[in-house]
Amino acid sequence: MTERQNRAAIRAEGLTKSFGGTQALAGVDLEAAPGTVLAVLGPNGAGKTTTVRVLSTLLRPDGGQAWVAGHDVREDPESVRRNLGLSGQYAAVDEKLTGRENLYLVARLYGMGRHAARRRAGLLLESFRLEDAADRPSGTYSGGMRRRLDLAGALVARPPVVVLDEPTTGLDPRSRADTWASIQELVDGGTTVLLTTQYLEEADQLADTIVVIEHGSVVARGSASELKGRVGGERLTLTVAEPRARAAAAEILDALGPHAPVLDSRTGRFTVATEQGARGLEHALSRLRLADIAVRDVALAPPTLDDVFLALTGQPQTSREPATTEVIVGAGAPEAGR
Ligand SMILES: Nc1ncnc2c1ncn2[C@@H]1O[C@H](COP(=O)(O)OP(=O)(O)OP(=O)(O)O)[C@@H](O)[C@H]1O
Ligand SMILES: [Mg+2]
Repeated sequence: MTERQNRAAIRAEGLTKSFGGTQALAGVDLEAAPGTVLAVLGPNGAGKTTTVRVLSTLLRPDGGQAWVAGHDVREDPESVRRNLGLSGQYAAVDEKLTGRENLYLVARLYGMGRHAARRRAGLLLESFRLEDAADRPSGTYSGGMRRRLDLAGALVARPPVVVLDEPTTGLDPRSRADTWASIQELVDGGTTVLLTTQYLEEADQLADTIVVIEHGSVVARGSASELKGRVGGERLTLTVAEPRARAAAAEILDALGPHAPVLDSRTGRFTVATEQGARGLEHALSRLRLADIAVRDVALAPPTLDDVFLALTGQPQTSREPATTEVIVGAGAPEAGR
């Protein structure tokens, strides 16, 4: 093993995996330095869970290699498992046991004494806000509660590497924020975390490095700000008041940047990349005014990871509205804004 492989907490090189005619992984390379968060981002079917299963020794890759905490997933799966906590995409809890019993059992399986196991279970129930439900069967838990219990289970043995497959999918906003805080705490304590997500905001919040995969291949990698920097410039969003003025507005906005403006036909809002900042905005607004086109709202903001995703894949990652956090002009009608 090279020193590099030894130093990375998680490392994969050229992982491939096919299921029948479906190539789930077409050569995935990734790496997480100790004590960092690596987010694997991608749409449904991109290969996220397959990557997680290979790294956690649940699935043998067809080709390529991977190491977790310096141990080869193929040659030394036992050592990999000893160093890794896994929370799968679908919560795996024993429904007949209570939340407390589930965690106690995991702790005992990891070789903790009774007292230590009880303490650890209690602490985790507290930090995942499951104390009230701790002593009823987990089969009666809501989906979000199961998810949190499963996450807690991955952390029982304080493994140096934790792999979380969509840890916050299906969680309400409060539980999501709590989960982010728990992950951040882990990382502050030196744990390495690989998480998969479909939420750009989650990757933005937590990840030191983001790997974007699509169809089993890495299409981009870097920090959130590096990825945003690649899109370049800023995003101008603008809504024209009259639907019939849209074509003329599109022509004016087209002059702002290298790419044509994109119209959300439901809301009538245009989004366009611009390198010209406020000057470009002023120019566009004055031309719109000259053409007698009423503008309902307009905003200029730095690119978001959504824009990155759109630029990389030509597909919006979510159906969320474009970011309009930095509204600088509310022209036209008094009901300007959203
Ligand atoms: N056991 C399997 N048998 C057959 N095909 C599979 C199997 N596991 C995954 N696939 C296929 O491999 C591809 C990648 O699947 P994977 O589960 O890794 O995607 P994902 O990124 O986790 O998606 P999601 O966001 O929906 O969880 C998909 O086309 C999927 O249908
Ligand atoms: Mg998945």
